[in-house]
Amino acid sequence: MVISVKNLSKEYSVFQKETGLSGNLKSLFNRKYETVKAVDDISFEIEEGELVGFIGPNGAGKTTTLKCLSGVLYPSSGKTEILGFNPNERKKAFLKQIGLVMGQKNQLWWDLPAVDTFILQKEIYEISDSRYNKTLGDLLDLLDAKDIIKIPVKKLSLGQRMKMEIVTSLLHNPKILFLDEPTIGLDVVMQQKLREFIKEYNNKYQSTILLTSHYMNDVEELCKRVIVINHGKILYDGVLSNLVHEYSPYKNIRITFKDNVEPNKFTKFGEVEKYAYPQLELFIKRDEVSSAVSKILSDYEVEDINIEDPEIEDVIRKVFGGE
Ligand SMILES: Nc1ncnc2c1ncn2[C@@H]1O[C@H](COP(=O)(O)OP(=O)(O)OP(=O)(O)O)[C@@H](O)[C@H]1O
Ligand SMILES: [Mg+2]
Repeated sequence: MVISVKNLSKEYSVFQKETGLSGNLKSLFNRKYETVKAVDDISFEIEEGELVGFIGPNGAGKTTTLKCLSGVLYPSSGKTEILGFNPNERKKAFLKQIGLVMGQKNQLWWDLPAVDTFILQKEIYEISDSRYNKTLGDLLDLLDAKDIIKIPVKKLSLGQRMKMEIVTSLLHNPKILFLDEPTIGLDVVMQQKLREFIKEYNNKYQSTILLTSHYMNDVEELCKRVIVINHGKILYDGVLSNLVHEYSPYKNIRITFKDNVEPNKFTKFGEVEKYAYPQLELFIKRDEVSSAVSKILSDYEVEDINIEDPEIEDVIRKVFGGE
């Protein structure tokens, strides 16, 4: 495995401000700190070439985890190994093999064209001329972004800027990528393009990618495996489709009838979501679906029937909400 995280925790000490004037004075002399457990004893392993989705609601601890893994933050406890390195030592050999893209933060020089930042990266990472030219060419091809690298960054659109951010983080061709909301704020077309890029980067270089996103499309399209985190703890680590099975024991059944039916008669099969002639929507327990459906088909004249898993988005919301 290339990433190993054992019992990682990260606490932040947050200064508690008391309200009111007396409170202000009091807190000036008597500072109170509260600890926020941003990451609370998490463990996981990732194999080479995996593309893993790291999902959870706002404040779950995703960014904090990625910062610990890339060595930007010191963990409070636990042991992390990336390619055998301790990230916090920030050895050059380690830094050369990882890349961190943060959708909410930029590393480009605002007034200068992106290519100037690229040249700086080239120096920092000691990339040879030939490798620089080759990698830059490949990345710009993949991202379809050749013609914008000489335009001052401040004149670029959000999507174009994100492309330049990505090139900056990948110029040294890292084996391991931490992508923290790389598609945030982008329009659907650009999101799709970036997804394709991430897929290709993963395939082409057998790179290992840990990706956070609030867009379930990203995760559904890219990641077979997901790690779900909430309040700093891992709720689920496994195949995305199994998450749906585990957390939603129901299937959505949509039936179109020939004639008007009495919706009450269907409550014995499951939960009737709604009925508007000719269509009835039901939630039926997974293991009762086939018997229920065959009974309905034999008792009624049915035009059409549709059996679906609930939307991942809904399931995720349920996982977080029901907790
Ligand atoms: N520098 C900091 N100082 C104090 N608390 C922090 C700091 N950074 C994050 N936190 C807190 O730690 C928790 C985890 O934050 P984190 O940014 O890791 O969440 P996240 O999962 O990335 O959320 P989002 O989806 O909104 O980006 C939150 O409660 C947050 O308020
Ligand atoms: Mg975050």
